[in-house]
Amino acid sequence: MSPIDHSIKRPTPPPLMTVLPAEPMLLMTAGPVPVPAEVARAGSMVIDHLGDTMGMVLRHIREMSRYVFQTQDDKIYGVSGPASAAMEMAIGNLLWPGRKALVLQGGLFSGRFAEMALGVGAEVTVLESEAGKPVTAQMVADQLKVDSYDVVTMVQGETSSGVLTSDLQQILKLARDDGAMTIVDAVCTLSTMPLKKDEWGIDVLLTGSQKGLSSLPGVSLISFSDRAWETAVDRQGRRPHWCLDVVRAERFWGEGSYHYTAPVPGLLAMHEALRLIIEETLEKRFERHLHSSLALQAGIEAMGLELFTPEAYRLNSVLAVKIPASVDDGRVRKYMEHRFKVLIAGAYGFDIVRIGQMGEQCRVPNLFRTLHALGAAVARQDASVDPSLGMATMEAYLAKQADDVL
Ligand SMILES: Cc1ncc(COP(=O)(O)O)c(C=O)c1O
Repeated sequence: MSPIDHSIKRPTPPPLMTVLPAEPMLLMTAGPVPVPAEVARAGSMVIDHLGDTMGMVLRHIREMSRYVFQTQDDKIYGVSGPASAAMEMAIGNLLWPGRKALVLQGGLFSGRFAEMALGVGAEVTVLESEAGKPVTAQMVADQLKVDSYDVVTMVQGETSSGVLTSDLQQILKLARDDGAMTIVDAVCTLSTMPLKKDEWGIDVLLTGSQKGLSSLPGVSLISFSDRAWETAVDRQGRRPHWCLDVVRAERFWGEGSYHYTAPVPGLLAMHEALRLIIEETLEKRFERHLHSSLALQAGIEAMGLELFTPEAYRLNSVLAVKIPASVDDGRVRKYMEHRFKVLIAGAYGFDIVRIGQMGEQCRVPNLFRTLHALGAAVARQDASVDPSLGMATMEAYLAKQADDVL
């Protein structure tokens, strides 16, 4: 008898190297973003996930994450999974039936917390902003007069619409003063702009690897305050997650003993990504991100396109650009991809395209290539844009404001 079932066809896919483009696309989407060579190299290795070298890597990741998160907390974990897994870890460890959550929803990603909280049986109230605007401190203050919550969730930046939670610090204070624990999603903002976990009173802070940190997708980072950690430890009853249980995660991250097989290449890559951030310093990194984004914004506006988000709550790390009604944004993106090998992102529900300004995206050659490709692609459909003026304006901005920064 045959050892295999011949009715199941043996597939013959081509070797990947014959399919992948010889020159990679320039990833200017809302993530994943290009990675530095050191990160790519580290991410191609496998070592023993419980050995001494790995132990050292984990200690360094924790130490470096403390700097990037701006926290003294030691309960920091690299989660095997996307940023959504870290969101689930935060929710699954702090909420359960009988607990109440207030979800500040300004778009697709901030709203995801509500689905997760409902999934673990919590009572959920969603406070939703007007489309394309952030939830404000006033809205939160009003809601906290109506009810109190065990947990309040929020994003620093809503990637889906390029909107910054501009009242973040006031909201955090309001929530804490009302006795709630706070969960902050810094997925598209961490290391691109200031965020101080301890000073701002954040209980759980999380991020992905594939955006500001410029690492490989697949490993996210999360940090728990002492009181959040103790809440998770003291929890009675069933724990809904096994992989995402912080108490089990601490066995690996704190004691070096087996929880599950760690995502070794992703953690090695994360080590290098964090190390490069530390080498650059946060101050210089914030400055590089800010000026890169402002230069691009100047170029986009000078060209004749409009930015979707008003300056007061414009997110610099993901720029939302309005596409004129006469222009098909899908064709713009396709033309940029095929003619210039530049990828930018579409949108969820708005007539916009989105350009990432995170990590390695914020480099001068990438700015020029992206702005030129965007201008040329829109100009093919709408003669009123002036790509040359956009390029000249961006160049003038960089020469005047950011020559030594970028
Ligand atoms: C603000 C924000 N939160 C959460 C996520 C989810 O991240 P992931 O796709 O890695 O699960 C994203 C992804 O773009 C995001 O931008």
